[in-house]
Amino acid sequence: MQTKIIHEGAAKVYIYEGKLTKKDPVFFNPDMKFNRDISVACLKVFKKMTPEKMIICDSLSGCGIRGIRYSLEVPKIEFAVLNDLNPTAFGIIKKNLSYNKVKNAAAENMDANVLLSMHKNKLNFIDIDPFGSPAMFLDCAGRAVRHGGFLGITATDLGPLAGTYPGTCLRRYGAKSLKTDIMHETGVRILVGYIIRTLSKYDKGFMPLLCFSSRHYHRIFGAVRRSRSCADKAVAKVGYLLYCRKCGMRQFSFSNKGICACGAEFDYAGPLYTGNLFDRDFADKIEQTNPKVEKFIGIIKEESMVDAMLYDIHEICSRNKLDTVKRDYLVNCLRKRSYKASGSVFGGFKIRTDAPINIIIESIRNHENPGQT
Ligand SMILES: C[S@@+](CC[C@H](N)C(=O)[O-])C[C@H]1O[C@@H](n2cnc3c(N)ncnc32)[C@H](O)[C@@H]1O
Ligand SMILES: [Zn+2]
Repeated sequence: MQTKIIHEGAAKVYIYEGKLTKKDPVFFNPDMKFNRDISVACLKVFKKMTPEKMIICDSLSGCGIRGIRYSLEVPKIEFAVLNDLNPTAFGIIKKNLSYNKVKNAAAENMDANVLLSMHKNKLNFIDIDPFGSPAMFLDCAGRAVRHGGFLGITATDLGPLAGTYPGTCLRRYGAKSLKTDIMHETGVRILVGYIIRTLSKYDKGFMPLLCFSSRHYHRIFGAVRRSRSCADKAVAKVGYLLYCRKCGMRQFSFSNKGICACGAEFDYAGPLYTGNLFDRDFADKIEQTNPKVEKFIGIIKEESMVDAMLYDIHEICSRNKLDTVKRDYLVNCLRKRSYKASGSVFGGFKIRTDAPINIIIESIRNHENPGQT
C-alpha cells in the first residue's frame, strides 16, 4: 500500500492511501481536520489554565497527526505519548514523530486501556478518538487523568446516541436515547452524563467546557477535578429529558416520568447531562488564542448565554402547519419579548431559548399575520 505526505496545521505526516474504513492499514480521515483544529485550540487554552507541566496522551493516535499537531502547535508541552494498538500505525507514528522532529514524545503500541492504566493520576490531557464509541476507554481515562487535568473525547456512534439504535445506546451508555428534532444534542448530553457518572466512581468531577456535534461525530472537552464535592456537583446535573410527542414541549427533570400540560404522557431520554454545554469564559479564551475558529466560537459564545432548551424551527412549523421563518427573525422576536434566545452550533435551524413552546409558536404565527397576537 502506497504512502503519501499530507500537510495539516504545523504537521506534515506520512499517511497510507485508503478507503476510510477500519480495514485501512492506518486510518486517517481528512474530514476530521476541524476536529483536530478545535482540539489544538482547546489544548492551547487548557495549557494556560493550569500551572502544571503538560503531559498529554493521544491514546488512539492512528498516524499520529493529532499528537504531533499538539506537540508542534501548543507551546510548552512537556511530553506527549502517542499510542495505537495497530503495529502498522505504531510504525508510522514513529516515522512521523521523527519526520516532524518532535523530541519530547514517545510512540507506544498498546491497548489504550492498558497504557492508561499504567498512568494512574499522571496525565494532564487525554485525547480519546476511537472508531465508534469511547465508552470502553472512559474508566481507564478517568483513572489516568490528573486532578486539574482535561479530557477531549470523540464519539462517532451517532446512531445509538441519536435514538436510531436505542438498544445499543442502553448497552453502551446505560441510557435511553430518543429520536427527535434535537436527537444529536440529546446524544451529546447522554455522552457527557456517562463521562460524569464514570469519573464520579473515582471521586472525580467532570465539568464540560465545550461540547458540539458535527455530521459524523460528537466532541466533548472538559476539565477534571479530583474532589468528592466536585463529583457530587457534576452528578447532581444528571437527569432526564422529558419530551412530548404531541405538542413538542420539552424539559429537564430528575424523574423520567411526567404528564405534559397538553395532557399527553412524556417520552424520555437519559440519564443525561442537563447543565450548560458551553463555558463562556473558555469560549472567550479560545477566540483570543485562535482567531481562525472565530465564526464557530462566535455561535458558541452566544449560545453559552442561554442555558435553556433547544428547538428545531422546521419541526415546530411542520407540527403546527406554519410557514417556516428565519432563525434570526425568531431569535430577535423572542428577545424583544424579554426571553433569552440564540442560534446553535447544533444546526442552522436550531434555536435555544427559555421561551415556552406556546410563545415560540405564537411568535412564528405573528410573522404570518403581523399585528395579531
Ligand atoms: C479513529 S482512528 C484515530 C484517528 C486519529 N486520532 C486522527 O486524528 O487521525 C482510531 C484508532 O484507534 C486504534 N485503536 C483501536 N482500538 C484500539 C485500542 N484498544 N487501543 C489502542 N488503539 C486502538 C485504531 O488502530 C485506529 O488507528
Ligand atoms: Zn404536550
